[in-house]
Amino acid sequence: MNLLLWAVIGYLLGSIPFGLILTRLSGGGDIRDIGSGNIGATNVLRTGRKDIAAATLALDAAKGAVAVWLAGRYGPEFAPLVAAVGAFAGHVHPVWLKFKGGKGVATLLGICLGFSFWAALGFAAAWLGVAALTRISSVGGMSAGFAAAVVLGIVGLPYAGAVVALLSLWVLWTHRENIARLKAGTEPRIGAKS
Ligand code: G3P
Repeated sequence: MNLLLWAVIGYLLGSIPFGLILTRLSGGGDIRDIGSGNIGATNVLRTGRKDIAAATLALDAAKGAVAVWLAGRYGPEFAPLVAAVGAFAGHVHPVWLKFKGGKGVATLLGICLGFSFWAALGFAAAWLGVAALTRISSVGGMSAGFAAAVVLGIVGLPYAGAVVALLSLWVLWTHRENIARLKAGTEPRIGAKS
């Protein structure tokens, strides 16, 4: 029962759609009508507001980190794993947006940070490295979680690594439209406007 509670707490934290809220508050309209329609930082960047995109990235990551940290501090054994899955599910399928949310990359970064600083570093390094090489955000996002899962295994957190690997597979699923665009050669490069 206690674990279920942590799944719900994680879900509720993860379901806060910061990209949508911040874009609206800054007068940018509904982010779902812009670019890819995604509520994440990459799409917020397409509004031309780097500051709002950075804030979206930070807050979407923070909700994942906070969920894992709170569960580790106050929950029973395995609560951080359950809270991580809850937070990710909340971001991707928020009840407030008819269950149509984001793609989970920033939230997965925060989840990794909640588990281990080194995992977050591995995630960020993989994302930046791949994104720099390809100039395509989605390719970086789809690669980074797997790198972090390996790091979690190396630092002795195999259960967290397994959960992050599973969530990374989920990230592939949330990016299925990006994968189709990559195959068609129409996936936009970082910084390109909608
Ligand atoms: O984090 C989301 C990113 O990987 C792709 O975003 O808007 O290009 O579909 P977008």
